[in-house]
Amino acid sequence: MGREGKEDGGEGAKLRNDVSPSVEAPVKKAISVTVNGVPYRHEVEPRLLLVYYLREVLGLTGTHIGCDTTSCGACTVIMNGLAVKSCTVLAVQAEGATILTVEGLAKDRTLHPIQEGFWEEHGLQCGFCTPGMMLTALQILERNPEPSEEEIRHGLDGNLCRCTGYQHIVNSIRYASRKIKEEGGTAIPETAGRERR
Ligand code: FES
Ligand code: FES
Repeated sequence: MGREGKEDGGEGAKLRNDVSPSVEAPVKKAISVTVNGVPYRHEVEPRLLLVYYLREVLGLTGTHIGCDTTSCGACTVIMNGLAVKSCTVLAVQAEGATILTVEGLAKDRTLHPIQEGFWEEHGLQCGFCTPGMMLTALQILERNPEPSEEEIRHGLDGNLCRCTGYQHIVNSIRYASRKIKEEGGTAIPETAGRERR
């Protein structure tokens, strides 16, 4: 059986070629980001959400996906010094950004004060909300190093916890506030970028 004029340049072949669907590889864009002090460069699809970039491309699965709709805060990371819900940021929007995830909190096997606070004050049960809670807490403490309980609760408005009833989370953040003051440090490490006001 012949090859139906594919190579003979006949009219039939031309028509078939014109109507066949073209399957093109998705367009990708190059991004460069620094995550937890490590520089990365990847080609990503423009539709890729930052949370999937962190989890599936970089393997940083400490950033959780609870809702995908900006409701729960489980995906919160610090980007250029600001807490953002990484399910609402495209990876391409993070071009050039400095990002801190929960994996970048401890240094040299020493817990960050916010991690120590959650440990000491039993700020978690299942732990699903915890990475997002801790990173949101850093922004609360960065903007107001000694927040009241009410101010902490207000700052946690966008983060949901199904287990703890929140009181232990508030206590954990107050613990971190005291600890950071004692140590004379800042809530958000320099390496996480500074908030651009
Ligand atoms: S997964 Fe991003 S806010 Fe819930
Ligand atoms: S500790 Fe389980 S959702 Fe917060």
